[in-house]
Amino acid sequence: MGPLRSASLYCVLSIAVLVSAVLPVRAQTVDQQLEENVGEVFVLSIGGKLYDNLFTMLGKEEPAKANPNYPADVSAKSLGTWRCVACHGWDYSGAAGERGGVAKSPSFTSLRAMEGMDPKDISNKIRAAPHVYDAELMPEYVADILGLFLSVGQYNASALLDENGASRGTASAGQPIFEGACSNCHQLDGRAYLRGELGDKSSLGWLARNRPQQVLHKVLNGFPGTDMLAMRFLPDQQLMDLVAYMQTLDAKEK
Ligand code: HEC
Ligand code: HEC
Repeated sequence: MGPLRSASLYCVLSIAVLVSAVLPVRAQTVDQQLEENVGEVFVLSIGGKLYDNLFTMLGKEEPAKANPNYPADVSAKSLGTWRCVACHGWDYSGAAGERGGVAKSPSFTSLRAMEGMDPKDISNKIRAAPHVYDAELMPEYVADILGLFLSVGQYNASALLDENGASRGTASAGQPIFEGACSNCHQLDGRAYLRGELGDKSSLGWLARNRPQQVLHKVLNGFPGTDMLAMRFLPDQQLMDLVAYMQTLDAKEK
């Protein structure tokens, strides 16, 4: 068994065992969960999915009224106004890669400086102004997991992608990873099994070229509400190779 295979097997097993183990222990802090040997990698992928879509993850409806922090002059049709990613972006730097596109707003602020901070301090910031999440939408354990994610779970977009969004990896090295780990669900051409965010084309090639930050976040953390694995165990080089290969897929779909 190659390292990738055994790593994904490990991941499948941990997810199968831990999905049931983590979610019911709501009253516990992340620290307590970690003490109980719930894998940190797994908790980080939950954090990444909460960041992506709090509502799918918690099984709650997004509030009907717009988030007062969201700028009124930016269209938020697809991502809504309450998901962390809507304001802080797929690479955590603010608007880059966010659906508001080129829109710049003081609401779209960078969280890159949270890297390495005490997770509990970050958790407290998430529960404080200017955010207006109430305790039902943002219980302490959820803020704690998000805090841990922002402290140690962010990827560094500028290390993985060049300034045009092209992956710094080698496509030919990424092909076997894609064909081994992804194509059974997404097909060899990357066109299967995708609903995606509103406005996305159903093509991993298109996504990897046009929304590489979204692809990196989802590959690392998984897709909320689906059985796609979080690939946090991939070393950066293999992650870049994988995305470089995905950027060559389905090239006629610009
Ligand atoms: C509607 C826009 C919006 C959404 C949605 C949003 N935030 Fe924020 N966030 C902000 C703004 C505005 C600030 C304040 C930035 C400042 O004061 O410089 C902020 C600040 C933060 C900070 C503190 C940053 C610092 O430098 O101290 C953290 C951490 C944070 N947000 C995390 C999150 C998380 C996690 C979510 C999802 C649960 C989220 N935010 C959702 C707009 C938003
Ligand atoms: C077990 C099946 C499965 C496997 C294996 C799988 N995925 Fe997925 N993937 C899904 C599902 C289901 C979705 C969600 C589709 C939707 O609702 O849009 C998804 C979504 C995605 C998305 C997000 C698309 C978007 O619109 O943002 C990306 C990117 C992605 N997968 C890449 C990969 C890569 C790369 C691999 C291999 C490393 C992989 N997937 C392996 C099932 C899988």
